Amino acid sequence: MHGSRLDRLGEFPFRRLAGLLADRVPPAGRPVLDLGIGEPQHPVPPILAETVARHAASWNRYPPPTGTPSFRQAVAGWACRRGGLPEGALDPGRHVLPVAGTKEALYLAAQLAVDRAGRSRPAVLMPTPFYAVYYGAAAMAGAEPVLLPATVATGFLPDLDAIPAETLARTAAFYLCTPANPQGAVADRAYLARALALARQHGFALFLDECYSELWDRTPPPSGLDVALNDTGSLERLLVFQSLSKRSNAAGLRSGFVAGDPALIRAFAKLRAYAAPVQPLPLMAAAEALWNDEAHVEANRALYRQKFDLAEQRLAGRFGFFRPPAGFFLWLDVGDGVAAASRLWTEAGLKVLPGAYLDGPEPISGAYLRLALVHGLDTTADALDRLVATLASPAATARPDRAALAKGR
Ligand SMILES: Cc1ncc(COP(=O)(O)O)c(C=O)c1O
Repeated sequence: MHGSRLDRLGEFPFRRLAGLLADRVPPAGRPVLDLGIGEPQHPVPPILAETVARHAASWNRYPPPTGTPSFRQAVAGWACRRGGLPEGALDPGRHVLPVAGTKEALYLAAQLAVDRAGRSRPAVLMPTPFYAVYYGAAAMAGAEPVLLPATVATGFLPDLDAIPAETLARTAAFYLCTPANPQGAVADRAYLARALALARQHGFALFLDECYSELWDRTPPPSGLDVALNDTGSLERLLVFQSLSKRSNAAGLRSGFVAGDPALIRAFAKLRAYAAPVQPLPLMAAAEALWNDEAHVEANRALYRQKFDLAEQRLAGRFGFFRPPAGFFLWLDVGDGVAAASRLWTEAGLKVLPGAYLDGPEPISGAYLRLALVHGLDTTADALDRLVATLASPAATARPDRAALAKGR
């Protein structure tokens, strides 16, 4: 196995974090707070369990890989309402597919794109820092993951004009996360239209990962489907990935959908019929109910706003704090993210993710920490207070944790 693609792939960020913290002990006497993983702890909407229970009779059926007509209808309807598209602009039969969580769908999509592109040295573009699945998907599909810096200097989105022509010519797919994990940056309509134009000009697939799109602060981010249909008149080369994990506090439901270019959807359905996990019918019914309800999403947005208020009160003017336009992460410049994460664990019982773990082999986010504001208000306030107290104390700079530095890199 030596030298296999998998061997060359680094560990998934949370496995790396577990390794970093493994032989370090958090302080006794107060609960550990996990702000590492983006797993919303807001209440689960009751319609989820109620709907699953109502559909108990269908546990004995194999679910169809392309989903039920009513699920596809519900997500097509939601996407049209959300995108300001006329009802019926998306055809439930041709434009949408259910997926058992977008993680697996994003992963499998690279295989689809690389296979279809037929390029000799295929490249898959993605931002860095990134959602690690993009990198693993590209590498395991036999493509070169091409990392486009998304830094404070580029507005936390890749600079589309900086991609070399030679790279564009061999690109099979471009993963773009908007709102971005971890920085919360939002691609505007012009940016999305430009990314689509590049995809069409160079014959690659644009994979828009929009799983944070419903958790916005002041303005709803534009949806890729809206820009594609309203501004460019076509869905060609576009797949949008949407999830209930963040929008509906339902990470355990494993439910999302993919929507876009009918040719890509058709090919993806063919591939997925062989390989992909399929969502059980009672869970698909629950997902349908969640897409048809906005009240719980509004409550979520309100709670995230309150938490960003708490963060702003404590962090404004420190650690490069900025209030992101969307998403639920803080992306803080603490000087040395690995050392800070190690110290926050051992001194404050806080689990947070070093920014460098969201980069490729040559990290550019080593100064950063990612904090997921996924808990209730009190826990969030407690976590922020612990963070400030720990990182603001002079010991932070006087005692660099050399063991952590060596181990974490
Ligand atoms: C940017 C991004 N995309 C996709 C996912 C996967 O979400 P799910 O598989 O729960 O739909 C996550 C989860 O953290 C994410 O942060």
